[in-house]
Amino acid sequence: MQKKSALPLSDSITNKKKVQLCSKESLVKLLRWHFGYSDFRGMQLEAIQTVLSGRDCFCLMPTGGGKSMCYQIPALAKVGIVLVVSPLIALMENQVMALKEKGIDAEFLSSTKTANAKDKIYEDLDSGKPSTRLLYVTPELIATPGFTSKLKKIYSRGLLSLIAIDEV
Ligand SMILES: Nc1ncnc2c1ncn2[C@@H]1O[C@H](COP(=O)(O)OP(=O)(O)O)[C@@H](O)[C@H]1O
Ligand SMILES: [Mg+2]
Repeated sequence: MQKKSALPLSDSITNKKKVQLCSKESLVKLLRWHFGYSDFRGMQLEAIQTVLSGRDCFCLMPTGGGKSMCYQIPALAKVGIVLVVSPLIALMENQVMALKEKGIDAEFLSSTKTANAKDKIYEDLDSGKPSTRLLYVTPELIATPGFTSKLKKIYSRGLLSLIAIDEV
């Protein structure tokens, strides 16, 4: 599978990075580049700008409204990992597959993964410079001490950019 290179956002190299990466133009660029959609729908942009500014956001949208985009775009706009907590393994698998097809580094951790596959993901997370942008996990897993300690490590390195709770 061909991996898409990072979108060369000209403003990502300026020192006004944080503010400019939240601009509508930059975010629409990411949406077009990675997903091929021309514009945000409903309140997506507002939700995305809210989480990018570090605030909490509760997003209520109908099924098919495009809630996933509200954490997928932040994962592409920010350095670090977006942790997505989702209770439905089949849904996680589908989303991760669809993201990978678009060249976006996404992984999921669940009981259906082999120990070997899990170790590979953990290795990347421990690497200090993880390539994973979105990590989908089940609520059961985040409650385990093993995962909590891994999460603390990622957080202490400043690499946990967002925790998204998707329909738990
Ligand atoms: N801005 C957008 N323009 C067009 N399609 C979009 C946009 N945002 C999301 N979608 C598409 O809408 C569909 C539903 O999105 P999804 O995140 O699964 O909805 P929800 O989780 O809210 O039910 C997906 O196919 C997604 O790619
Ligand atoms: Mg959804």
